Amino acid sequence: MCGIVGYTGKQKAYPILINGLKALEYRGYDSAGIALFESGKLKISKEKGRVKNLDDNSDLKSSNSSIGIAHTRWATHGVPSSDNAHPHLDNSGNFAVVHNGIIENYLELKEFLSKNGYKFKSETDTEVIPNLIHYYYEKEKDFLQAFNRTIKDLKGSYAILVLSPLFDGIYVAKMNSPLVIGEGEDENFIASDIPAVLEYTKNFYFLNDGDLAYITNNSLVFYNNDLKEVNIPKKVIDWDKNAADKNGYEDFMLKEIFEQPRAINETLAGRIILEDKCNFLDINIDSKYLKNVNKIYIVACGTAMHAGRVGKTVLEELTDIVTIVDVASEFRYNYQVIDKNTLCIFISQSGETADTIAALKLAKKNGAKTIAISNVIGSSITREADYTIYTHAGPEIAVASTKAYVSQISTISALAIYFAEILQVKDITYLEKLKKELLDIPEKIDDILKNSENYKKIAKDIHNVKNCFYIGRGNDYTTAMEGSLKLKEIAYIHSEAYPAGELKHGPIALIEDGTSVIGIITNKKILEKTISNLQEVITRGAKVVLVTDCNYENNDMIIINIPKTNYLFAPILAIVPLQLIAYYVAKEKNLDVDKPRNLAKSVTVE
Ligand code: F6R
Repeated sequence: MCGIVGYTGKQKAYPILINGLKALEYRGYDSAGIALFESGKLKISKEKGRVKNLDDNSDLKSSNSSIGIAHTRWATHGVPSSDNAHPHLDNSGNFAVVHNGIIENYLELKEFLSKNGYKFKSETDTEVIPNLIHYYYEKEKDFLQAFNRTIKDLKGSYAILVLSPLFDGIYVAKMNSPLVIGEGEDENFIASDIPAVLEYTKNFYFLNDGDLAYITNNSLVFYNNDLKEVNIPKKVIDWDKNAADKNGYEDFMLKEIFEQPRAINETLAGRIILEDKCNFLDINIDSKYLKNVNKIYIVACGTAMHAGRVGKTVLEELTDIVTIVDVASEFRYNYQVIDKNTLCIFISQSGETADTIAALKLAKKNGAKTIAISNVIGSSITREADYTIYTHAGPEIAVASTKAYVSQISTISALAIYFAEILQVKDITYLEKLKKELLDIPEKIDDILKNSENYKKIAKDIHNVKNCFYIGRGNDYTTAMEGSLKLKEIAYIHSEAYPAGELKHGPIALIEDGTSVIGIITNKKILEKTISNLQEVITRGAKVVLVTDCNYENNDMIIINIPKTNYLFAPILAIVPLQLIAYYVAKEKNLDVDKPRNLAKSVTVE
């Protein structure tokens, strides 16, 4: 996964690169490194650990160099160590490379290079790149040709930056890994994502897979893989810089939880229109096509897949079209019954998740129409899909997804209403009521957030339990899955989500004195059923917390009341207390909430 950043311009490069790396740490944080070009020489500094550790120890801190590249790593090949940290140099010491992605055929390339006398200092896949560049440079005596021959030999994914005393700028190549180029005045920036350099520019270029670029302080030249110069349109990104700062909050995750009302408002704005038809200019799906759709697939990973599960309920209820949800890494290898009448929706906050992108390509190959729902403008998935709908959650920095999740559910709910209007299969008054309910959600989240202090108390009770269960039925089960994922990933507590009725088919054997069970009930029709399941665990010693919008009292459990909405949209409200509980449990345990261990924000490996 990893984060990369490059700078060439009139300012000192070191602080810009370090700030960029800090903003990219969510992508990986086990080691970091920087290469600067100074007094005709490449200077490199690398450290195991976080970017702060590099900054505290680097002897390049006082450098006046105004060109450099840098990297923060999420280890794939080789343990976190300063040897394995990037930048990596070739044997001649002329080419410094930072790389994000995975070179799948690196062993083959390493063997080839070893036979040609090259020696390797690290265990990484990346180290073959600078050496292969050197190998071809010796033959071609032209860097661009050598670089292009190198990347043509690479199988896998990469975003690569190369710095060398042999040229003035930075060479760049991209394949299936995120990379943006930011244009300034007499200075240019390269980064894995927009927020890393958003404080310097709003003008961005997005390379296509297979493209190369040569970036100097005052020029940007883009090439396709035949080395023909190509034009790439400039996009102006109007994100507010504060959106990428903590803005007074202790952590990005807390800030992003509190941003949820705004994220939903912005996502729905202009799309859901009361007393008028919904407006989805982003997609051009006509009624003739939609009437022939016989099946919808929603494919995604992790939290985005949970949003898809909620989306399934809304789509099926409003369109009567069978909707199947699948995890992207499974979808890819399952038998597919897909044709031109299958609509496939892919959800990805980052738009860079390798499995989701591969699943999309597969669906397209099988003839399906594809829609991407993504939060990141210009991300890879948006370039592959037939249509893209952006969630407007703003940059999500914390590794654990919160505001993107509720924005994804809002988007797919709005899309379902839009489809229902086209298909004319539901009563208009009912649809109008749903629109109103959806637009009222942000205010209701604000109400839930007002009580955020209460969750600290609950977190104190939970923080030292060994096991936690989340249970619910229907959409409440999906909320249970998402709540349980949040607790696992940021608080490192083993937790599982179960359909409430399933507990007695096995897992109830694990309930003992003090086990935590969190129940969710947002559908009055199943209130009694789920309450019975909660009683069953209370009898066996469990401590129960119930999140509900039903009027229900019971002194044997802690009850968190949330505002009422249509049950289809209730997951958007019910998840908020669970996000806060996970957050405060992690704080109680003194954990790094924004950068949980072993995780990275965008999963660009399969
Ligand atoms: C959990 C979380 C992950 C992501 C998953 C997909 O909090 O963030 O489960 O939802 O890795 O990522 P995207 O949405 O970027 O495809």
